[in-house]
Amino acid sequence: MNCSKRVSSMQASPIRKLVPYATKAKQNGIKVYHLNIGQPDIKTPDGFYDVVKNFNEEVLAYATSEGMPELLEALQAYYKTYDMNFEKDELLITNGGSEALLFTMMAVCDPGDNILVAEPFYTNYNGFAQCVNVEINPVTTKAEEGFHLPSKDVVLSKVNDKTRAILLSNPGNPTGTVYTKEEIEMIAEIAKEKNLWIIADEVYREFVYDGLEYTSFGNIESVQDRVVIIDSVSKRYSACGARIGSIACKNKELIAQILKLCQGRLCVPTLEQLGAAELYKTPVSYFKEVNDEYKRRRDVLYNELMKVDGVICEKPTGAFYILAKLPVENAEDFVIWMLEEYNKDGETVMVTPAEGFYATPGLGKDEVRLAYIFKEEDLLKAAKTLADGLKKYMEIKK
Ligand SMILES: Cc1ncc(COP(=O)(O)O)c(C=O)c1O
Repeated sequence: MNCSKRVSSMQASPIRKLVPYATKAKQNGIKVYHLNIGQPDIKTPDGFYDVVKNFNEEVLAYATSEGMPELLEALQAYYKTYDMNFEKDELLITNGGSEALLFTMMAVCDPGDNILVAEPFYTNYNGFAQCVNVEINPVTTKAEEGFHLPSKDVVLSKVNDKTRAILLSNPGNPTGTVYTKEEIEMIAEIAKEKNLWIIADEVYREFVYDGLEYTSFGNIESVQDRVVIIDSVSKRYSACGARIGSIACKNKELIAQILKLCQGRLCVPTLEQLGAAELYKTPVSYFKEVNDEYKRRRDVLYNELMKVDGVICEKPTGAFYILAKLPVENAEDFVIWMLEEYNKDGETVMVTPAEGFYATPGLGKDEVRLAYIFKEEDLLKAAKTLADGLKKYMEIKK
């Protein structure tokens, strides 16, 4: 029996595909520090669990396809705090930001179309696009420029007659880059000039450090008919397992079209939606605390990386990732070696090879993404272990 070309040609998630090596290391009694995945250890706010514990309906029924009123209202109120005013029929609740991205791609592209994406990008963009026969059209950004966007002319030169949308994660995963107001406005101008949708992946909206100003596409008035905002409680409230995301768009026609996809998959889990509605009522002071924590962690990891000969990286200003260039030829080989061959006092580290965050062949081969999602003391230990492993690997490969 043959499987479809669509699924066979899909990439395995570069973030998850090396997990079996980590599993084997653990079976051999090695402790593995997982800096490879964006699963934060921050406590999920109590409100989520309180609602779930107090649920006492006799039947756990389907929810409405567009999302439950409780959650839609809470989401509306959340957006209002950012001066974004969405009607209820301009919002849809989805199974994580992942489904929101997939549905949006399906709704704005036909097979063979392409979406402009700043690379390196969140690797699943590629997976979702492959799933629906859409191409990622990469605009390359560089470590030495803090992964900021190239000039308008360069971006424009990538647009062709099959380009339907520009997709930007802000702050960026895996780069941690927070785009400037000028960059956001430049993308808005291009979208208008070339009649493109803007898919604004803002799942890390609150994670911005060093007092930087954050500009959401939701606040650029001139493009509101073409902006689709993707959101999620996964990182925002450290509730990855809830699988609650959303689509916000003032273009009611697009929402009506995506609603058909939502109806096809019936609904998003009921209990998690009620819990997520509580999450969206979390006071803003929560973000101050969490951000201070992430900023300290970023500094610990960045400072340790800077001590390692040959490691090149910019200090990220958002999200919770660092993309680092290592003095190795093949980062994936190094990651596997760390899991198969190396340990220091019974401990090792797993990071993600960055090649899968690029669509341009050959880029990112010597880069890795590290997520600073542990407490400082563990992070420091992990960073020191990684540095030691890298030194040993370099000696062997000399
Ligand atoms: C940039 C970005 N967008 C979307 C997602 C999807 O998240 P979820 O499906 O958990 O909401 C992630 C998850 O890591 C992400 O990093």
